[in-house]
Amino acid sequence: AGELRHWEGASQEVFSPVCVRTPDGPERVRIGSFPLMGGDDAMAALDTAVATYDNGRGEWPTMTVADRIGHVQRFAARMKERRSEVVRLLMWEIGKTEKDAAKEFDRTITYIDDTIDALKDLDRVSSRFVIHEGIIGQIRRAPLGVALCMGPYNYPLNETFTTLIPALIMGNTVLLKPPRHGVLLFAPLLEAFRDSFPPGVVNTLFGAGRTVTPPLMASGKVDVLAFIGTSPAANALHKEHPKPHRLRTVLGLEAKNPAIVLPDADLNLAVEECIAGSLSFNGQRCTALKIIFVHESVADHFLNLFSRALAALGCGMPWEPGVMITPLPEPGKAVYLSELLEDARSHGARIVNDGGGSVNCSFFSPAVVYPVTPAMRLYAEEQFGPIVPVVPFTDVSTPIRAIEESDYGQQVSIFGRDPQTLANLVDHLVNQVSRVNINSQCQRGPDIFPFTGRKDSAVGTLSVSDALRSFSIRTLVAAKEIDLNKE
Ligand code: G3H
Repeated sequence: AGELRHWEGASQEVFSPVCVRTPDGPERVRIGSFPLMGGDDAMAALDTAVATYDNGRGEWPTMTVADRIGHVQRFAARMKERRSEVVRLLMWEIGKTEKDAAKEFDRTITYIDDTIDALKDLDRVSSRFVIHEGIIGQIRRAPLGVALCMGPYNYPLNETFTTLIPALIMGNTVLLKPPRHGVLLFAPLLEAFRDSFPPGVVNTLFGAGRTVTPPLMASGKVDVLAFIGTSPAANALHKEHPKPHRLRTVLGLEAKNPAIVLPDADLNLAVEECIAGSLSFNGQRCTALKIIFVHESVADHFLNLFSRALAALGCGMPWEPGVMITPLPEPGKAVYLSELLEDARSHGARIVNDGGGSVNCSFFSPAVVYPVTPAMRLYAEEQFGPIVPVVPFTDVSTPIRAIEESDYGQQVSIFGRDPQTLANLVDHLVNQVSRVNINSQCQRGPDIFPFTGRKDSAVGTLSVSDALRSFSIRTLVAAKEIDLNKE
């Protein structure tokens, strides 16, 4: 709340997914701790955010856009000073490779800069007057109130900031709840928040989500819920609000993005994109390719190329150059993934690559599973880990039906050459998902493009300019034309 409070309460220890050998076997390394705030602490932070917003009369919501931009720029400058610490914490706490951790940090800074540029454009449009049917109208962008911003563990910095920054810059006050994993990196940023924003504008809450968030939502005083994570968690939060119709939600949820490899696809390209698309950061991305439909005529060739590429894939510690597979931060994840493999095996699928699915402390070696059928959990369930289910098809209606019947609707990748076939597929799929990728993997960026989804995948749109709209309301100032010379 604009101050750094000395914490004397309970704290939660944080363990890295990186293991060390001990006489009792491998053990996760302790890397720090964070304050375990309770419901009362959360409510105190909420009171501060509400008082600072002051029903739209506070200093922050009434400040000029230029001044708010100044505060955000000051914050970005302070944040850059902590780059190496934050990058290191990303590596140790969630097992992200050094290259990807640095990319996450730099992408966040670019996101802040791009948001500022987009706001300047939006502000120019908002300052215009339009005269229509005797009314002089000006559409302003006004803040919504108090926003609760919660990011996911796979992009604890970047995805948290994709809601935090637009929420702030549009004049809302914010409650920031870091994810369960990827929490320590917020400690070096606390001073930057304190030194860059007026007191009470950014309120960081450490603690278990199940303790600190229900009372916030139940108070009815949160105006915007910006949450990136699973849909059960989003639903649970939403249900706590006594008047959910008054709550604006911006949600980035689950996905089961498919790739469709057509018979005329460039298989080398398809394999390269599908490897990166399904296995970067161990497949722990909502945008990851989570199921691959391959035309039967090229399935064997595709699997051979895929297995060969997998064998060459780097697996190691986050600081080792060239690795893609690193330790998994979620302690129970390997057990869950093994269950999915067992289920697929029991229904007749096999693991195509040698050693696929083996577990070593928090490492889970990538497994390609074939042939996957609708009877298997892997067909519809979001694995969010290094398992690649492959489904053979003879008619493209098979993947299309799977997409239509899926609970998710984020993205799809199509690999093929014939322009007419691609165009027909695109025309159909744009009504099923929110992004169709041609000869390329699924992904969120570049961040200036809209990022959203259908069905259980998202509510609202995140991206630089869309997010500014998501965290504000268009307010019309309408004046009747009057003749000033008339007595
Ligand atoms: O977890 C979902 C992220 O938004 C994925 O972003 O496609 O840039 O890795 P990315």
